[in-house]
Amino acid sequence: MRVLVLYAHPVEDSFNAAVHATAVQTLREAGHDVDDCDLYAEGFSPILTREERIKYHDVPQNRGPVSSYVERLLAAEALVIVTPVWNFGFPAILKGFFDRVFLPGVSFRMEAGKVKPSLHNITRLVGLTTYGGTRMRAFLAGDPPRKIVTRVIRAVIKPFAPVTYLAHYDMNRCTPQTRAAHLVKVAAAMKAL
Ligand SMILES: Cc1cc2nc3c(=O)[nH]c(=O)nc-3n(C[C@H](O)[C@H](O)[C@H](O)COP(=O)(O)O)c2cc1C
Repeated sequence: MRVLVLYAHPVEDSFNAAVHATAVQTLREAGHDVDDCDLYAEGFSPILTREERIKYHDVPQNRGPVSSYVERLLAAEALVIVTPVWNFGFPAILKGFFDRVFLPGVSFRMEAGKVKPSLHNITRLVGLTTYGGTRMRAFLAGDPPRKIVTRVIRAVIKPFAPVTYLAHYDMNRCTPQTRAAHLVKVAAAMKAL
């Protein structure tokens, strides 16, 4: 399966870097064709410009400034997102990817003012996230990253596609054991893709 891994962390020795490395290595060992998109390393600009906003609904010209990323997204059969949770959202670089690349004519189309999901090439979705706070704290805040993966992105991919959300909560009090156990779960989720 062709898997697009969207990775959003700036530090090479972070725990997210370990999650990312585990995911990519396990996917490759399982024989998947991995497109490893490291947004920081690639210098992805998250800024949706004035010009892009004006042309947002002009299909297909709207994809011009990010055409290579659109091609990579449309070539994928599975999407794996690896990211920390910052301010109960995604790092700006990843949020910007959704703003700039999940465009009309790419992830959805507009029909009589209604949004029709169209990212049906994606038949598997996985969110691999980390939180400093506990799951209860995230729950009380509404846990937006979990909902964005399991509801918002789920809604635009192939209907009934399997979705996995795997989070290490409470990283402020993590131990080598909790981190190692989480990486085992990450590898298992990638093997099961
Ligand atoms: C800018 C920033 C904002 C953060 N906001 C939150 C937050 O809203 N909720 C939370 O649980 N953790 C938050 N954290 C903690 C991170 O989620 C935590 O440091 C990260 O998951 C640990 O992974 P890492 O070691 O790979 O960076 C934040 C951290 C940073 C740097």
